[in-house]
Amino acid sequence: MTVTRETKDNALILWIDNPPVNALSQDVRAAILAGVTEAQNDASVKGIVIACKGRTFIAGADVKEFGAPPTEPFLPDVTAAIENSKKTVVAAIHGQALGGGLEIALACHYRIAAKGAKLGLPEVTLGLVPGAGGTQRLPRLIESTAAAEMIASGKPIDANKAKANGLVDSVAEDYVAEAIAFATTKSAENRRLSERAFQLDAAKFDALAAATRKQAKGAAAPGAAIDLIRRTAGKSFAEGMKEERALFLHLRASEEAKALRHIFFAERGSNKLPDDISDAKPIEVKTVGIIGAGTMGTGIAMTYLDAGMNVRMLEMAEDAVARGLARIQSSYRDSLAKGRITEAQRDQRLAALTGGTDYAALSDCDLIIEAVFESMDVKKAVFAKLDGVAKPGAILATNTSYLDIDEIAASISRPEAVVGLHYFSPANIMKLLEIVRAKKTSPQALATALSVAKATNKIPVVAGVCPGFIGNRMLRAYVREAGLLLLEGAAPEQVDKALTAFGMAMGPFAVADLSGIDIGYKARKEAAPGSFEPMATIVHDSLVEAGHLGQKSGSGFYTYKDGVKAPNPVALTFIEQVRSETGRTPRAVSDAEIVERTMFALVNEGYWIVEEGIARHIDDIDVAYVNGYGFPRHRGGPMCYARGVGLSKVVKVIEGFGQGAFGKWWRIAPALRNAAAAN
Ligand code: COA
Repeated sequence: MTVTRETKDNALILWIDNPPVNALSQDVRAAILAGVTEAQNDASVKGIVIACKGRTFIAGADVKEFGAPPTEPFLPDVTAAIENSKKTVVAAIHGQALGGGLEIALACHYRIAAKGAKLGLPEVTLGLVPGAGGTQRLPRLIESTAAAEMIASGKPIDANKAKANGLVDSVAEDYVAEAIAFATTKSAENRRLSERAFQLDAAKFDALAAATRKQAKGAAAPGAAIDLIRRTAGKSFAEGMKEERALFLHLRASEEAKALRHIFFAERGSNKLPDDISDAKPIEVKTVGIIGAGTMGTGIAMTYLDAGMNVRMLEMAEDAVARGLARIQSSYRDSLAKGRITEAQRDQRLAALTGGTDYAALSDCDLIIEAVFESMDVKKAVFAKLDGVAKPGAILATNTSYLDIDEIAASISRPEAVVGLHYFSPANIMKLLEIVRAKKTSPQALATALSVAKATNKIPVVAGVCPGFIGNRMLRAYVREAGLLLLEGAAPEQVDKALTAFGMAMGPFAVADLSGIDIGYKARKEAAPGSFEPMATIVHDSLVEAGHLGQKSGSGFYTYKDGVKAPNPVALTFIEQVRSETGRTPRAVSDAEIVERTMFALVNEGYWIVEEGIARHIDDIDVAYVNGYGFPRHRGGPMCYARGVGLSKVVKVIEGFGQGAFGKWWRIAPALRNAAAAN
């Protein structure tokens, strides 16, 4: 039974118990409807409370049902029955009231929240708009632009804010008792939101509409939500509901919604233990050691401080320690000034942090992460020292982005303790954590890596050992094609624009300028010959050798004079030189070709990665690309995008690329051919 009934103090409590998150599956909807309907003629019931067992109030519609046609009773019918109830209905909210969960609460006559509860309409993050009155009732309850902002951003608000803006009526420790009191003493009269009207403040709403479209980066749902609210303002509730439902059903079947559902579940698959060690148990991590207090080390340190753990930071010299500590202090000062953390939180985090130069300080750490210079010799020297001081059972992690972790592990006496934890800069902000399972990594070390990912709010993906693991290995193929397009006739700005129009957060040349063109230059000098295409980075190399390192030197592919980004004429001259020296006549390259060349390079490499067992599931590649490489979420990741294009078409286009001057890089992964044939 997913819904049980309890009678207490003349109130009927409908207890929803549908783990893990009390989603509104068909049986739950039916049982709520039956409970409310039957209570109407039950003289012993004075009021009704809707409450949930387990960790949360209703966290939304059941996303698993979205792929199939809706089944009765439909949620709008359930919310209508709740609102029309003669007897007062009260929502008792703890944990999260999200999506359909908040729509149920909005249909209730009163809403009581537990402390710390969160309330939101995250439908746009799934490519939808609320479909059971959320877009119509919320602007009739709270100020209409604030309501529109909640709907268009999908971001939840906490109970205190909800009390302040009128979304909830009371925040109470014993929220169920309070809900019973409301249900049995307060009237439902004048509490039905459908009986109210709403208007917009035009100037405020226009500003929100403009900001929403900018933030959506090509996703359709946020703008559609704004248009719906604008269109229905001043109209009757019935008319608004009709328009809302039509838009909801239309969006539900869209490619964007499918892609966003795909990534929602992919992210909830990539954080699971691999099947072969599904019963492995993590060790408890309270104290974390971090070697290296540069940008990466301090970012990683803050990740753990933010999650309430102790951090011991280690550097080679006292002044480097001091710089690292100062960087963290200054970052928390900024967060405090922006109101993101409280003074107490800042003090607590800084109190949990120590820094020094003596490895002995790491002897009580449960997990130690090395984030030093990317050189095998340097990393091995660090691991030799860790082997000497780390307590038995401690997990030893490396943040390398390219190096062979099996070789690092083999150099110490406890290879089973070694795992890769590849963070992305800025490490305390970026969601992706690539967890690298080396040949000898123990089940416990891997389980611990996955459990700290959860504790520190990261989205993990497990990868095997190969140069660049999943993300950077694919990036190399993408950067290769972007570089070769320059020789064929495209300009850096055109490539960047075509890819940002596709939805990428930044284009590859803007990214190169941001991270420093010299970084890749050094890596290429050390890379095995034949592992990359030298012609693809010939312009990069010329720029570095002429001192154009990117933003840090003031110019790279672009110049950055007085904060204005413009194409760097030096880069354009280098491109022309290479073209003429290699006898190439530039041709017109279309934006569509730019997208196909770079995206299909990612896709083909992705299939190789699956083929070789570097990724354990194709969906993990999408999770990595969306959360670590600025791939547009509403396209579901490169592999999901390729399925949308049609894998047979992808294979055909790649076969064409294989005929080109650099065709040797387009060897098609058998896994891609097989998947295309299976389709
Ligand atoms: N429908 C179906 N299943 C859902 C779900 C939903 N709306 N929300 C969460 N789940 C499932 C997850 O798939 C996961 O299943 P698993 O254990 O088999 O992997 C499980 O519930 C736990 O979810 P998870 O996200 O890992 O837990 P959490 O504690 O980190 O977060 C929530 C809980 C509710 C905040 C989060 O799951 C969430 O935001 N859910 C989506 C809410 C939403 O968008 N609702 C609107 C739908 S229109």
